Amino acid sequence: MTTAETAPPPPMRLRELVFGAACAAAVRAAARLGVADALDNRPTAVEDLAAAVKTEPKPLRRLLRALSCYGVFAELPDGTFEHTAMSRLLREDDPNSLRAIALWCTEPWTWDAWPKLDEAVRTGDNVVEGLYGKEFFTYLNEDAPESADVFNQAMTRSSEQSAREVADLLDLSGATSVADCGGGQGHVVACLLDKYPALHGSLLDLPRVVENALPRLREGGDLASRARIVPGDVREAVPVKSDVYVIKNILEWDDESTARLLGNVVAAGGPGTRVVVIENMVDDSPSMRFSTAMDLMLLLNVGGAKHTTESMLSRLAAAGLEIDSVRPVNPYLHAFECHVPG
Ligand SMILES: C[S@@+](CC[C@H](N)C(=O)[O-])C[C@H]1O[C@@H](n2cnc3c(N)ncnc32)[C@H](O)[C@@H]1O
Repeated sequence: MTTAETAPPPPMRLRELVFGAACAAAVRAAARLGVADALDNRPTAVEDLAAAVKTEPKPLRRLLRALSCYGVFAELPDGTFEHTAMSRLLREDDPNSLRAIALWCTEPWTWDAWPKLDEAVRTGDNVVEGLYGKEFFTYLNEDAPESADVFNQAMTRSSEQSAREVADLLDLSGATSVADCGGGQGHVVACLLDKYPALHGSLLDLPRVVENALPRLREGGDLASRARIVPGDVREAVPVKSDVYVIKNILEWDDESTARLLGNVVAAGGPGTRVVVIENMVDDSPSMRFSTAMDLMLLLNVGGAKHTTESMLSRLAAAGLEIDSVRPVNPYLHAFECHVPG
């Protein structure tokens, strides 16, 4: 990050800020064109890159020059371009790839919604229903299947990347069962079953999501004998009794849904049950700029919000949970470990 000493003066900084859309669009264009994938470890002439990604060389140079200002690719004195730590993350094959996230954060619907942020701030409501006449995920699945695919890829990527860190952090020795509510394709369950060979795990999520659960958890998979897949709406019921419940990146929706899910978990588990809630915080996090931007995006699409530590603690307490600890999982996720008293 730029230090106070080297930061541009305020008028220049503000000019740069209001062109944030150009910056996001440039990252999106590079990701869609596959420029990072076409560039290998050697500095490469724009003409060669343009041939590889099927663009005109001159506009490609302009795109790469704009991105280089932000440290995404670097231009060398001879006019060739090389990778930087950030541009490598746009490669599909990078183990920490952010390509899917870069696309998800800049999908077409976002360019319809951001100009209406003032409206959302005024009303506190999402703007997607006004724009498309239906709830966000209904719109995505019915009218924007390419965006729905990008969403699923982005979620899969970030789940894969964080599941191992969650499993490393959690000490489930002594527990015989774990249930992941809204666990997506089951990356956290799989990592926990790998870590604890006697543990049994349940994956709860919506039917269309668990249809694509990891093959390892499904019939014929190496973890299938210890895994149970439970399709359904966790706001309606959590029909699984477990020693430990994990709820990761779910409680960003409306407060009523949060209260219902936590209530269902408390009822299903009973006294002594452990509940681990994992979320991005909009305070006390080194990734404040990313988390607060996601918070605004949630306001636009589902009328939801990321939590502050305080707002999360108060919702957990309101559900009757006692908080044992709050710990960082990584620079952008926190784990709230709680139990049902009694
Ligand atoms: C942001 S993703 C998080 C997935 C996973 N927990 C993770 O951290 O990788 C939110 C998940 O909640 C699931 N979800 C949303 N509403 C749900 C509901 N009513 N019942 C069950 N799952 C739900 C979604 O299908 C999705 O898999």
